[in-house]
Amino acid sequence: MWGGRFNARPDEIMQAINVSIEVDKRLWQQDLAGSRAHAAMLAKQGIISFEDAKLIAGGLDTIETEIRDGVFPFRHEFEDIHMNVEARLRELIGTTAGRLHTARSRNDQVATDFRLWVRGAVDATIAELYDLQGALLERAEEHADTLMPGFTHLQPAQPVTFGHHLMAYVEMFGRDRTRFADARARMNENPLGSAALAGSPFPIDRFATSEALGFDRPMGNSLDGVSARDFALEAMSHAAICAGHLSRLAEEIVIWTTPQFGFVKLSDAFSTGSSIMPQKRNPDAAELVRAKTGRITGSLIALMTVMKGLPLAYSKDMQEDKPPVFECFDALDLALRAMAGMVRDLVAQPEKMRAAAGAGFSTATDLADWLVRTLNIPFRDAHHITGAAVKLAEGKGVDLAQLELSDLQNLEARITGDVYKVLTPEASAASRQSYGGTAPDQVRLQIQRWKELRS
Ligand code: ARG
Repeated sequence: MWGGRFNARPDEIMQAINVSIEVDKRLWQQDLAGSRAHAAMLAKQGIISFEDAKLIAGGLDTIETEIRDGVFPFRHEFEDIHMNVEARLRELIGTTAGRLHTARSRNDQVATDFRLWVRGAVDATIAELYDLQGALLERAEEHADTLMPGFTHLQPAQPVTFGHHLMAYVEMFGRDRTRFADARARMNENPLGSAALAGSPFPIDRFATSEALGFDRPMGNSLDGVSARDFALEAMSHAAICAGHLSRLAEEIVIWTTPQFGFVKLSDAFSTGSSIMPQKRNPDAAELVRAKTGRITGSLIALMTVMKGLPLAYSKDMQEDKPPVFECFDALDLALRAMAGMVRDLVAQPEKMRAAAGAGFSTATDLADWLVRTLNIPFRDAHHITGAAVKLAEGKGVDLAQLELSDLQNLEARITGDVYKVLTPEASAASRQSYGGTAPDQVRLQIQRWKELRS
């Protein structure tokens, strides 16, 4: 492509480090879209003739068919997707192909292709998050009343409902969704027409190509146009946060599916066995979702590091932007779909959850609150009395609700039999009626709110 100035062919190692076609062939649809928009604009602006534009468009159609049919010759000697397409176009339509690159550079071309790709990946991610939220909402509705222990420090804390627990993730994935939507709005500007770095002397119409490619407007600075990769970094930052959320839910599924917890079961469709231990059912999908966080966050760090300290405008360093971004969104796509699959697949075990919800003196706070509300005892003192009750129950090997009234009255004479009403996990959860609390009514309210938000 630049043979005019060169006498010799590149060294083999030079070619090996320079070639990117195996990676950036994934941009072929975006590359063809950019070229179509550019050629049409050039003709409309009188920069090339309509006949040439038609010839070019026909050649690009043939290339599309060839790629779809798997017969397009991707060649390393042409380095990247842009030059592979142009070289093939020349073979198909002759020297007119050379007019396509008028008022354009690979620098704005790749910036455009890549932005279009990331925009598409963000759209797909938003749709997957929406679907995952849908799966969580279905299960939350089904289990709005199902009791389970709520934990802090992974120690039994207070009873909650399984629906409430699942709805916590609906909130997280909702924030992820809006983060991606914000990033999409910010990235939706067109780099095409920045040319090599300084803009073009031809009377190009950047608003026309923006419209053709679904961008809101052209980017306002040509140097920035070819050098900016923060759109990819931003999308990957959101991916890393989202992967963090996925890994937390994955970890809970790993814990819940242990025989020790036994809160949920995954079907054969989402479990694996062991080649040596016949009794095993392993939650591999959850573990792999948990692990994908490493790749996703790693990709973000990789591109952050590539971009740091690059002078304006384009540097070839930026060719290293694609592998991490592809890896990041491939992993996130799989993780989101695997998680939605597991959430739909899992079967809760309400008896196990209910038993655990009542264990570990999980209604101790309810006893203390009762002392405050009914006997007007200051909370700190109520906390102390309750601590003594827990110690007593622990010594006797019983639950708080199984203590004799006389035992409780030895700790505080004014306690009445009424207290037992608050000592069940059902009563404990139902009493937490504050907005966003775990009372089943409140959980249903939030489920309703989310259904409306999503419609
Ligand atoms: N393959 C290159 C990349 O991905 C395209 C841009 C090359 N531009 C250049 N001036 N060498 O970044």
